[in-house]
Amino acid sequence: MRAMRILAIETSCDETAVALLETGGDVQTATFDIRGNALYSQAKKHAAFGGVYPSLAKREHAANLVPLLDGALNEAHLSIPTTQTLSEEQKEYLEKLLEREPELYSALVRFAEANDTPKIDAIAVTQGPGLEPALWVGVNFARSLAYLWNLPIIPVNHLEGHMIASVVEATEKEQMFAITEVPFPVLGLILSGGHTEFVLAESWGNYSSVGGTRDDSIGEAFDKVARLLGIPYPGGPGLSKLAQEGRDLLKTKPVHHTKGLKQLPRPMAQSGDCDFSFSGIKTAVLYQVQALGDLTKEQRMLVAAEFEEAVSDVVLKKTRLALEQTNAKTFVVGGGVSANTYIRKRLEKLFSEEYADLTLRLPDASLSTDNAVMIGMAGYFMHLRKAPTVDHSHELRASGTMKMHE
Ligand code: KG4
Ligand code: ZN
Repeated sequence: MRAMRILAIETSCDETAVALLETGGDVQTATFDIRGNALYSQAKKHAAFGGVYPSLAKREHAANLVPLLDGALNEAHLSIPTTQTLSEEQKEYLEKLLEREPELYSALVRFAEANDTPKIDAIAVTQGPGLEPALWVGVNFARSLAYLWNLPIIPVNHLEGHMIASVVEATEKEQMFAITEVPFPVLGLILSGGHTEFVLAESWGNYSSVGGTRDDSIGEAFDKVARLLGIPYPGGPGLSKLAQEGRDLLKTKPVHHTKGLKQLPRPMAQSGDCDFSFSGIKTAVLYQVQALGDLTKEQRMLVAAEFEEAVSDVVLKKTRLALEQTNAKTFVVGGGVSANTYIRKRLEKLFSEEYADLTLRLPDASLSTDNAVMIGMAGYFMHLRKAPTVDHSHELRASGTMKMHE
C-alpha cells in the first residue's frame, strides 16, 4: 500500500489540534509516522467557568486552527512558502463556508496567499460526537482546505479515534506508531469527558452498542467531584493524585481515621446490564462535603480515594459482565479517563488474574486525551475499509450526538 499523507483536525471539545500523519500498510500492518502534531489545550481558559463553555471553545478553535495548521505543516517540513493571490471566486466560496467565523476566514486567506498547496492526500476531521458549535468550526475548516487544495475529506467519529489510538503502540522510531495484533471480536470501553460506553466491534467499522451511561460520563464525575474538593477544571488528574495520597495515608494510619466519612455508592453495580450511572456518586460526595463543612486535607484525600475506589469498582464489575456477554477476545480502553493510573492498574490486575487469555489494550499516555493524531489514525482505517469520502461541495454536517453504530 502506497504511503498516504493525512492532515487531521480535531475540535470536538476544548482541545484544538492539527496533525500530519504519514500512514502505510494494511489493517494488520498499519504504521503511523507522526510528522507534525500541533495541539492547543483551552482547559485553563474554561477553568474559570468550572467546565467547558461552548461559545468560548468555538471562538478559541477559530482563533487557533490556522496557527496550528501552520505549525503542523512546518514541523512536517511540508510548508511551501510563496506569494500568491486568491481569486475573488475563491474568496467568495471560502467566505460563505466560514461565514460564522470571519476571523478564521481572514486568517485562512492570509495563510493561503503565503503558502502553496502542500503534498497531502486527504483531510480527516472529527465530525462528532462532541460540542456541536465546536465541531462545526473543524468541519468547515476541513471543507475550506479541501476546496483550496482539492482533497477528499474523511469524516471521523471521535470515539473510533479513541479506540484506534488504544490499539497502536510506539515503535523504536521516534514518533512512529504501529498497529498491534487485535483479535476480534473487540470490546471497546470509552471513558472520557463526554462519553462512557461499551462498543463491540466484530471488525473495524462494524460496531454495536453494549451499554453506556444513563446520566453523567465518568470524566464528568471526576471533574465534578474534583470541583467539590477544590480542584480546578479539568480536575481528573488532580483528583487522581489526591486519591493516591489518600491510599498512602490509609496504609500508615489506622482505619478509625476515616471516621465521619461514608462509603460512596457503586451505582448500578448490581443492575445486571452493562449500563453505568455516575451522577449518584457525585451527589453522595456533595452530601458528604455539606455534612462535614470545611474538609481537612486528610479528609479530602480520603474522599478522593473512596471516589476512585467506587468508580473503578463499577468499571471492573461492568467490564467482567460485558466480556462475558460478548465473548470478546480483545478489550480496548480509550478516552481521557483511561489515563487514570489507578483504573489502569486495576484493569491490568483483572486481566492478568482472570482474563490472561484475552488481550488488554490501553492507550499510550500521549494519545489518551483528545488529540488529532487519533483522528488521522481512524481516518486511515476508514480509508483502508473504503469508507466513502466527501468533497468540499458536500454539505458535511457536524453531529454532536454522532454514534459509532447505526
Ligand atoms: O477524552 P477526553 O480528553 O475528552 C473528551 O472526549 O471528553 O477526556 C477528558 C476527560 C476529563 O474529564 C478529564 O478530567 C479526564 O478525561 N481525565 C482524567 C485523567 N486525565 C484526564 N480523569 C481521571 N484521571 C486522569 N488521570
Ligand atoms: Zn475524547
